[in-house]
Amino acid sequence: MQRKITVLDTTLRDGEQVPGAKLNIQEKLRIARQLKTLQVDIIEAGFPISSQGDFEAVRHIAREIVDGPAITALARAVKADIDAVYESIKEAQQPLIHIVLGVSNSHIENKLRKSKEEIMELGIEAVKYAKKLLPDVQYSTEDATRADFEYLWKTIEAAIKAGATIINVPDTVGYAVPEEFGELIRKINYRMKNINDSVLLSVHCHNDTGLATANTLAAVKNGADKIECTLNGIGERAGNAALEEVVVGIKLRSGYYGAYTNIVTKEIKNTSTLVSNLMGLEVQVNKAVTGDNAFAHSSGIHQDGLLKDRSTYEILRPEDVGVESMELILTARSGRHAFKSAVSQFLREPLPETDFEQLFASFLKLADRKKEVYNHDVYHLVEAHFAARKESPCVSSQNLYELVNLQVISNDLFPSASIKLKYGNQFHMGSAVGDGPIDALYQAINNIVALDAELLEYKISSISKGNEALGRVHLKINHQGMIHSGKAVDTDIIKASAEAYLNALNQVLLENWKKENKAALP
Ligand code: KIV
Ligand code: ZN
Repeated sequence: MQRKITVLDTTLRDGEQVPGAKLNIQEKLRIARQLKTLQVDIIEAGFPISSQGDFEAVRHIAREIVDGPAITALARAVKADIDAVYESIKEAQQPLIHIVLGVSNSHIENKLRKSKEEIMELGIEAVKYAKKLLPDVQYSTEDATRADFEYLWKTIEAAIKAGATIINVPDTVGYAVPEEFGELIRKINYRMKNINDSVLLSVHCHNDTGLATANTLAAVKNGADKIECTLNGIGERAGNAALEEVVVGIKLRSGYYGAYTNIVTKEIKNTSTLVSNLMGLEVQVNKAVTGDNAFAHSSGIHQDGLLKDRSTYEILRPEDVGVESMELILTARSGRHAFKSAVSQFLREPLPETDFEQLFASFLKLADRKKEVYNHDVYHLVEAHFAARKESPCVSSQNLYELVNLQVISNDLFPSASIKLKYGNQFHMGSAVGDGPIDALYQAINNIVALDAELLEYKISSISKGNEALGRVHLKINHQGMIHSGKAVDTDIIKASAEAYLNALNQVLLENWKKENKAALP
């Protein structure tokens, strides 16, 4: 039988400890609502004693987030902290007090400066006090992985006897290694279940040596009932175990772990993007599961294998985590098979071999010049190839938008943009005023391409030693929910921004067209 793993998300507490990532109450509420949609079991909403703002944010979350996750907040083992947590979460449907106190010699001697016995007593008194306020209390043995095992165990035993309902074993400084941590959890679990098998055993791993996900998964394999994570792995120093990695790891290898979570994985990308945008913390492009390149295949060998059967190089489907399948970025190395597949998106019938060879030659020339060839480039190659003929029997009826010209005015009063796009044989012009030049530009495009697109993320970065700019966008079509990505390179940052947005919109048009014409496609 598979065990349900309880997921506590601490993006709003440990995650918010990242320098510069402070959020206001409204922003925290937005993230909390999304965490509810993601179906985390517990939201750690903050550290209420730290400031009035944090206290208020936790209180708002506790009041608003109902019919879903339990709400917790952090306290040190002192009455004032516990009172602040209680006052901030008492209106939650399922409130949980979280107490933390060090157990390693280093914490006890250098930070707490009391004897081990005195510290244990403080912890027990804190749990007893919290228990008078609420039935659910989590006790965290801070820096557990560097602690003397027998002292750690005595502390856990005493906390359970005092009424703790969850025991959390943090690898506070990222010191653990998977085999050793797994063994530690196996030992604690065995002893704990002999005392009281309704008390949950939890882990909280930091990523100082890049092992937070591995350590968390090793703990799950060895009996942990609950895991603590953050979106995109943000958190103190090198961060915490990334929710998306641990959850997907468990889902993909549920037989191995004998476990599952209740996380709605289709909401992972949405949640990651929201957290990244609101906290201003970019997700590294090759980040597992949520990075921009997590599902991008560029080598010809991989593209070929993927096109024959997705499972060759894709153990995880992008749509499972809420990402619309990525367009294959073609380069001069992509090879015939990948190019043929890109071309076939626009065809109603198979392309004659001579046409294909001519198109492939044009593609190679373009790829040498542009480095990366996008769907709309392939579309224009196909269109140009058949333009001389009266009829282009192969080409799909789905036109794509092409940038003809643009003008963007940046100022404090009325940032505005005018744009001219080509769609089939027609030209369309649009203009808009926005909050800034890029907002105006995207509004102007939206006025022409009526797809109800919502921009989720926009990035512009310099590449090729600063000669060129890479624009990247993520957008959502409001009634559809999936996230679409687009990118483009140009020496002009405004053009790169416009092209990236158009690429994403063209991708939506193509996906929609493919869905509608599935039966008619070759
Ligand atoms: O890293 C840590 O030890 C913590 C505790 C509060 C669980 O964040
Ligand atoms: Zn932590």
